[in-house]
Amino acid sequence: MKYDFDTLVERRGTHCCKFDTIPEEAGKNAIPVSIADMDLPCAEPIIRALHERIDQRIFGYTVYENEVCKEAVTGWYRKRFGWEIDKDDIFFSPGVVPALAFLIQFLTKEGDGVIIQRPVYHPFTGKVEANGRKVINSPLVRKGSTYEMDFDDLDRKFADENTKGMILCSPHNPVGRVWREDELRKIVDIAKKYDKWIISDEIHADLTRIGVTHTPLLKLAPDYSDRIIVCTAPSKTFNLAGMQFSNIIIPNKEYQKQWNEVVSNRLSVGMCSPFGLTAIIAAYTEGEEWLDQARAYIDGNIRYIESFVKENLPKAAVMDCQGTYLVWLDLNEYCSDPEKLEELMVRKAGIVFDEGYIFGPEGNGFERINAATQRSTVEACMNRMKAALDTL
Ligand SMILES: Cc1ncc(COP(=O)(O)O)c(C=O)c1O
Repeated sequence: MKYDFDTLVERRGTHCCKFDTIPEEAGKNAIPVSIADMDLPCAEPIIRALHERIDQRIFGYTVYENEVCKEAVTGWYRKRFGWEIDKDDIFFSPGVVPALAFLIQFLTKEGDGVIIQRPVYHPFTGKVEANGRKVINSPLVRKGSTYEMDFDDLDRKFADENTKGMILCSPHNPVGRVWREDELRKIVDIAKKYDKWIISDEIHADLTRIGVTHTPLLKLAPDYSDRIIVCTAPSKTFNLAGMQFSNIIIPNKEYQKQWNEVVSNRLSVGMCSPFGLTAIIAAYTEGEEWLDQARAYIDGNIRYIESFVKENLPKAAVMDCQGTYLVWLDLNEYCSDPEKLEELMVRKAGIVFDEGYIFGPEGNGFERINAATQRSTVEACMNRMKAALDTL
């Protein structure tokens, strides 16, 4: 079927994080292009499966450990990425961020160092620090309109005895890099040299630009599978974030035991919601057609932003977006003071972005635009942004 992504779907009034928490200063007609979920309606097979589940009328305790779900997850990764996952290595978490917090509990002790690469999804910093661990930042290096890793710096930081491992963002939010195999291999080789673990957050894996392919870290490095954990989820891919469902791939048997002890036993996390389970099975077994169309639509939005900036905002720079639906826009030449930039965007333009600075000081003067929305919203957002920047 052909999906209609152009028609606006009203999200206000649903306790929606993105639309129902807009600061008052942004005004009644504010456009939020912030939090990373989509304004695009979900795939029809998911809606149908949820309707059928609701019609059953009982919503009791629901078991994640079931063949149908595991078959759906492994089938998806086999088909889309050629990655063979052992069903016994899949663990439930109500989200990838909770999983990062769980993993930190048993992979590290208080005071231990964890490498991250800023600018990066802010909970990486937040969860490491909130758990009393130390952020070891190995900043990405800007090269023209893209970013690269600094492997010498990574080597130095992995070498430190206090560093226990790294949280990798692959694809990378917010800079939009889809890491090449040679880059991923280098990280693995460095981690291996010092015998450190890598948690690879691959929540954006399915959302690459058409023609760009993501490589799952465990597929690339089966030789180091004992020290790699991959976090996956259908939430970004199929716009199911509120279903609170993610699949954490842990091949190491000792880590599996520790997960069971800390997460299942001590924290008592393991039961899933009947809606989450229903949605994920439908998504991974019947969602492909929708995803292909959604990716093409988002690609169109990103191309629109790129050409708008080229034609109308000569002092701005869009970073190459290879993956995620998030556009990383450098406005430093207009305004490098992050507070002033935020004020301009919120009060004058009436746009709520995820401000660049929340991803670390490396993000000062940037805005992150969520392009998984209606084309008309993207157009309005860019026109308002231009009008506000023109006043400077
Ligand atoms: C890299 C990354 N990891 C995790 C999440 C959120 O994961 P969850 O909602 O499953 O906790 C996001 C959401 O934007 C993200 O960009």
